[in-house]
Amino acid sequence: MTTALITGSTAGIGAAFARRLAADGHNLVLVARNTERLHEQATELHDRHGIEAEVLTADLATDEGIETVEKRLANRRDAVDLLINNAGFGNKGRYLEVSLADELTMLKVHCEAVLRLTSAATESMRERGRGGVVNVASVAAFVPRGTYGASKAWVVQFTQGAAKDLAGSGVRLMALCPGFVRTEFHQRAGMGTSNIPNWMWLDADKLVTVALTDLARGRTVSIPDPRYKALMGVVKVTPRALLGGVTSRTGRKYGPQ
Ligand SMILES: NC(=O)c1ccc[n+]([C@@H]2O[C@H](COP(=O)([O-])OP(=O)(O)OC[C@H]3O[C@@H](n4cnc5c(N)ncnc54)[C@H](OP(=O)(O)O)[C@@H]3O)[C@@H](O)[C@H]2O)c1
Repeated sequence: MTTALITGSTAGIGAAFARRLAADGHNLVLVARNTERLHEQATELHDRHGIEAEVLTADLATDEGIETVEKRLANRRDAVDLLINNAGFGNKGRYLEVSLADELTMLKVHCEAVLRLTSAATESMRERGRGGVVNVASVAAFVPRGTYGASKAWVVQFTQGAAKDLAGSGVRLMALCPGFVRTEFHQRAGMGTSNIPNWMWLDADKLVTVALTDLARGRTVSIPDPRYKALMGVVKVTPRALLGGVTSRTGRKYGPQ
């Protein structure tokens, strides 16, 4: 039996990964800040699928929280075979409307935690000659979209570079780049979503299925939907100035909900 560790497992995309991996018979290490919610999730997945689900409370915006997860990933006796770096959040507001402290917290969770946890996991995976890491980025990585887009661009670049450096080691790394997904993300950030067209919304369970297929195929970047693949094709040939205008409006309705 293999073990998967998922950060941000209790809601949205992370919860969809947990459901799918438990159904496939993987033991799980569930990571988030809310201990009560983690225990409820662990019990439910254990009861439904007969897998072992361990709970690790950690705030990845803190050194202490990151260290807790690093230590678990470095445990060679109870090794983690698949790491899903998924925890993340949005900040409400455009550049200079968001406090510097909140921007730095985003970089800590989206970049520093991802770097440190990927490193802790892949060191022991490389020794064993097998393992996988999925770093959840976003299609926002490909467009000018403030610190959020910049942090996700870092995730994509870092993951692709590390995947190349570890090629042939048996360790696979993939950046997952979803579009809009119905989760708690926008509500938590206090962002209205009424200006996001229906066709742009993705289903978390479906995107997890595509993501795991893409990982098995050895992809280093996954855009898990044909609509967004087409859209990102257009983005590649669109002038950056025009792109900046469009992306600063789409899905960034910050008024009261
Ligand atoms: N939803 C979208 O439209 C969308 C699109 C593209 C990419 N993404 C990315 O997908 C990932 C998951 O987002 P989601 O939409 O599933 O969000 P979500 O529904 O809000 O879930 C976020 C999860 O992360 C955990 N979390 C948040 N901050 C944390 C911290 N400091 N330390 C540890 N855990 C933390 C939350 O649990 P606790 O609160 O208990 O810690 C929760 O389990 C993020 O990286 C996001 O950027 C989302």
